[in-house]
Amino acid sequence: MIDLRSDTVTRPSKAMLEAMFSAPVGDDVFGDDPTINALETKAATITGKEAALFCPSGTMANQIAINVHTRPGDEVICHRHAHIYYYEGGAIMRNSGASVCLLEGDRGLITAEDVEGHINPENDVHRPLTTLVEVENTMNKGGGACYALKELTAIAEVCRKHRLKYHLDGARLFNALAVTGEKITDYTSLFDSVSICLSKGLGAPVGSVLLGDKSFILRARRVRKAFGGAMRQAGYLAAAGIYALDHNIERLVEDHRRARQLGELLSEMKYVERVLPFETNIVIFELRKELPAMQFLDLLKTYDIHALAMGTNTIRFVTHLDYTEEMLTRTLEVLQGLKP
Ligand SMILES: Cc1ncc(COP(=O)(O)O)c(C=O)c1O
Repeated sequence: MIDLRSDTVTRPSKAMLEAMFSAPVGDDVFGDDPTINALETKAATITGKEAALFCPSGTMANQIAINVHTRPGDEVICHRHAHIYYYEGGAIMRNSGASVCLLEGDRGLITAEDVEGHINPENDVHRPLTTLVEVENTMNKGGGACYALKELTAIAEVCRKHRLKYHLDGARLFNALAVTGEKITDYTSLFDSVSICLSKGLGAPVGSVLLGDKSFILRARRVRKAFGGAMRQAGYLAAAGIYALDHNIERLVEDHRRARQLGELLSEMKYVERVLPFETNIVIFELRKELPAMQFLDLLKTYDIHALAMGTNTIRFVTHLDYTEEMLTRTLEVLQGLKP
């Protein structure tokens, strides 16, 4: 099976499983799990943040951050396709009672100018109080698009000026860094909080880390408990995260190269209307109008190639750790021969 549905489909390698099996563990709710503590320290050190919190999922890490940064009735500014809004089951409204101000923006990227234009004045009691700005890097629904550090810095300045909190959904932050070559701390230092997924490009089976200063993480730890996300001997899972940080960051460029090869071929295919610019491990492409995404996916399935629809005519391919060179060759061969 060739699985291009998501970079979340990877299975732990033998070496990762060995690291998991041999991890020392304890009850993390008592702060006793040495492997979780080691992961949190490692993540904080790598990102230059004061503290970290191991979370069961990226969704929970993001939603904890939103809950800490907002009060019911506040407003969060983000892109209308932001994962926190579009793909997290209404959690902003459900868990934090906060409102959203949804911006447009090329490939899911928002600008400082647009953010500033959508901040509700503090002294206007009619409007929800803007307290948080969120960005996603890389941007999933934008085809793995990367922000320019300059734009993120400009948004940070707007946040500082208006005393707003600033959260980064960095589920795929390491993918962005693999493209730009910039230092992780150049990014993380701009934000009050950052979430990073271990279970996407980095190949761990479970888990995300939420990062911030000590007082933020203390409050986040309470919210994680309230959301039911405090785990016990989860060091077995954290060990996979440590292994992922040690071994699976540098190889992300391989995923990007394979995505690029897919994107380049798709751009030449008659059945493809347009391919979104491909920068990282995600390739989003629109099929010719008369070709529904579901029909195309069914056709791919006959070759045991699996992908996801992102709209009636739109398909997403995501490359990852378990998508090998042989699989790439086979996919290119199939795509080239298709006559849908
Ligand atoms: C950009 C982004 N943020 C957050 C998440 C949520 O991660 P999880 O599936 O671990 O909840 C995802 C998942 O695909 C994602 O793509």
